[in-house]
Amino acid sequence: MTDRGPVKPLRTERGDVYVYESADEVAREAADMLVGIVSGVLADRSVARVALAGGSTPKAMYRLLASPAFRERVDWRRVEIFFGDERCVPPDHADSNYRMAREALLDHVPLGADRVHRIAGERPPAEAAAQYQQTLTRIGDPPRLDLVLLGMGPDGHTASLFPGTPVLAETRALAAPVYVDKLESWRVTLTAPVLSAAAHVLITTVGEEKADALATALTAPAGAVPIQLVRAIDQRWLVDRTAAQKWREKI
Ligand code: 6PG
Repeated sequence: MTDRGPVKPLRTERGDVYVYESADEVAREAADMLVGIVSGVLADRSVARVALAGGSTPKAMYRLLASPAFRERVDWRRVEIFFGDERCVPPDHADSNYRMAREALLDHVPLGADRVHRIAGERPPAEAAAQYQQTLTRIGDPPRLDLVLLGMGPDGHTASLFPGTPVLAETRALAAPVYVDKLESWRVTLTAPVLSAAAHVLITTVGEEKADALATALTAPAGAVPIQLVRAIDQRWLVDRTAAQKWREKI
């Protein structure tokens, strides 16, 4: 609920799009939706499995979830944490998605250490991916995450599904290594089939630099940008006004 009442989503072929006034509102509403989804899962099952996004956009949401106002609203003891992708750096490196999530959220809520499944960014990429594949296989075949949080880059990548990389064609592997030329670095990512198999996907993206990618993702034919490969049954886009601007011009 925003100060002006609940935002009504616009239904599109690629999911429900919620447009908010600011990045802060996106973070707050995403945190609220996480609370609702996780509580719904825990009403029926003993554990909820959530994959976190990296990058900078989710940080505000993680901080909110760790704040006193939110912390008690999730039964963190029954939440199992996964990651959508990881940069190939050690877990204490400034670029590590695990480190960001740990500092903003995981260290502040009562999660058991054995409930946090990080991708071993310090290991050779292929080994880290193989190890994560095993972790995922243990939760089901195919694994079905309850909630996947995602961000989107200005080039339309999500997790580490970058344009022009072979991992986009992956249909069997659950996790894969990917070399990203423009970043000159390796990453390990969940593959599109795993992301799409999630029960719920929340994509948060804000800022003018994402406006072109968002318009393309929501209106261009499939294959234009990698994030279009993610097609979960309940897929919600939480965006701010500036990110939504070019998409709105097209509809
Ligand atoms: C990462 C990601 C990536 C991210 C987007 C958006 O490790 O960088 O998981 O997919 O979500 O690049 O990142 P920002 O939120 O920083 O723009």
